[in-house]
Amino acid sequence: MIPFNKPYLTGKEMHYMYQAVYSGKISGNGLFTQKCQDYFQEKYGFKKVLLTTSCTDALEMCAILADINPGDEVIVPSYTFVSTALVFVRQGAKIIFADSNAENPNIDAEKIEALITPKTKAIAVVHYAGIACNMDKVMQLADKYNLLVIEDAAQAINSYYKGRALGSIGHLAAFSFHETKNINSGEGGMLVINDDRFVKRAEIIWEKGTNRSEFFRGEVNKYEWVDTGSSFLPSEINAAYLYAQIENLDEIQARRKAIFNKYFDGLKEWGNANGIQFPVIPSYGTNNGHMFYMVCKSLDQRTAIIKHLKENGVHAVFHYLSLHKSTYYNAKYEGNELCHSDHYTDCLLRLPLYFELTDGQIDHIIATIKNFSC
Ligand SMILES: Cc1ncc(COP(=O)(O)O)c(C=O)c1O
Repeated sequence: MIPFNKPYLTGKEMHYMYQAVYSGKISGNGLFTQKCQDYFQEKYGFKKVLLTTSCTDALEMCAILADINPGDEVIVPSYTFVSTALVFVRQGAKIIFADSNAENPNIDAEKIEALITPKTKAIAVVHYAGIACNMDKVMQLADKYNLLVIEDAAQAINSYYKGRALGSIGHLAAFSFHETKNINSGEGGMLVINDDRFVKRAEIIWEKGTNRSEFFRGEVNKYEWVDTGSSFLPSEINAAYLYAQIENLDEIQARRKAIFNKYFDGLKEWGNANGIQFPVIPSYGTNNGHMFYMVCKSLDQRTAIIKHLKENGVHAVFHYLSLHKSTYYNAKYEGNELCHSDHYTDCLLRLPLYFELTDGQIDHIIATIKNFSC
């Protein structure tokens, strides 16, 4: 069976983890954490980076930093992972779900303004499959209505919008290093702070509500409880693993993009002939090779293609069920139908995409799909 995902090992992970373990400092915020944070800040122009134990944790920090309170509203796409909305609900916010574009699952930026009310505090956007949302439009609305923008860049490492790294445009951003992501540490993530106002508080929230980071830098002579927070920082062992991945980022990206292009070239004619939609990269964005998806014509067709692939030794998957229809939020949802979100819920299918997927395996997957009679 060709699996859907296989985390790639660069070969240096154990070496760096060994170094971390024998350095005698394996809790968080040590040398490897610093090396990873410096790398991301320098490469992508992020103002400040803090590694976290997951993207969900980084989003939780965003919700605290954005000072989301009961009665506030946050605009979130319905077609996304639970965490994008969950973290604001935990703070007591009401979620105003937005629909996706017809061309791709990203939030339809043209429809956001109609959802803004005097209670709106923030807009969360998701760069689905690492493809940029229409950030000029989103930031223009944020300026006009004095809102915060949080980029859920879980899938968007090393991808750009008009030359600017995703995650560097909103006030805050969150990335994932879960094992399904381009670079990973098993479970892991990072918070990006692009707005100076949040830098000091973010460090405190990260360190259980204490000013321990300032203490370690010698800026205060004792540390104490100064704010809310939690233990959001990963251990040095995780950071060491991530550092090995970072060192191979260019190679990983090159292979992942080559796989994406091979799928695209092999399937585009068949897709056009059969009404199947593939990722469209807008002229303002880049492709980071995170995911190759296809949008089938119906739920029945998607189910049949998944079954056909499985019978031929290929594990393909679907994901994201419109959050406004979820068991948890359904009864609380008061908005309109979100037809594009529902369409992706029923019809989007993801093909295997990981570094070690061979050209022969990709050829087999393409041939199997083309054998399917639509
Ligand atoms: C868009 C989006 N946001 C958030 C997350 C949560 O990431 P993590 O598992 O690192 O918490 C995911 C997970 O894949 C995701 O796809």
